[in-house]
Amino acid sequence: MIDDTSFTIANAPLAGVIGMPIAHSRSPALHGHWLRRYGIKGYYVPLPVMPEHLADVLRILPRAGFVGVNVTIPHKEAILGLADAVTDRAALIGAANTLIFRPDGKIHADNTDGYGFIANLRQNAPDWQADAGPAAVIGAGGAARAVVASLLDSGVRELRITNRTRLRSEQIKAEFGARVVVYDWAQAGNMLEGAQTVVNATSLGMEGKQALRIPLEALSPGALATDLVYTPLMTPFLIEAQGRGCRIVDGLGMLLHQAAPGFERWFGQRPEVDDDTRRAVIG
Ligand code: ATR
Repeated sequence: MIDDTSFTIANAPLAGVIGMPIAHSRSPALHGHWLRRYGIKGYYVPLPVMPEHLADVLRILPRAGFVGVNVTIPHKEAILGLADAVTDRAALIGAANTLIFRPDGKIHADNTDGYGFIANLRQNAPDWQADAGPAAVIGAGGAARAVVASLLDSGVRELRITNRTRLRSEQIKAEFGARVVVYDWAQAGNMLEGAQTVVNATSLGMEGKQALRIPLEALSPGALATDLVYTPLMTPFLIEAQGRGCRIVDGLGMLLHQAAPGFERWFGQRPEVDDDTRRAVIG
């Protein structure tokens, strides 16, 4: 005999985030906030999964009521080899962050980081234009690849990139094409000259890490500076860029916006990203 309450819970869609470690992820707070806001009977849970168990866990989750999951460090690349279908942009970026479990049991993998990056700029710097001038991306890791893909997609005509490990920027140029120009890490300050969009896509400036030490003298006042690091919200890079007259956009909005497409697919409601959402995640 099943009472009404347990029946409802049993049929509530489940989603979550797979990573290791996962305790510090802000995604459960974010999705929990949206579930409450829209009165949706669903759950979003942190799932600590070791790399060697990833394939087994993915096979089981759809059979346990899960409609999809987010994927984070260290699984974002490995997941491509386990999904049944991978979107073109996830394949190009080489990583996925959002999985949809289809009713037929097939796993569909997408990458929404680039969408989140651009949606954050459009929301917080509405007059920003991708083709206003060169873009400069600092870093060439997984997050940087999503940023590069989305900037090129948005119409940036010249994309300058620098990375401590030069080979990773060279790989991005080889894969993303002629609009990408590689600068040496030792000359990183030079690539800021005339750039209209400047992005820190390294982990430098994060709490507990060194600050980004690229000289910012060449930064044009009026350029848009944004950081993927959001702990702290105001990174040393953003503080200095603001002091030089740049418009700045912090990185929290990218986290919020990249989550929206998954939430909509799993729970059937396009969630709004606003100040309440920011507060729910920061709190
Ligand atoms: P993510 O998926 O978050 O991008 P990642 O792929 O590990 O993570 O990339 C981290 C980025 O921060 C890289 O650009 C990395 O430079 P390397 O490719 O040379 O490793 C950059 N980064 C991390 N620590 C750094 C440091 N101390 N100095 C310079 N760059 C650093």
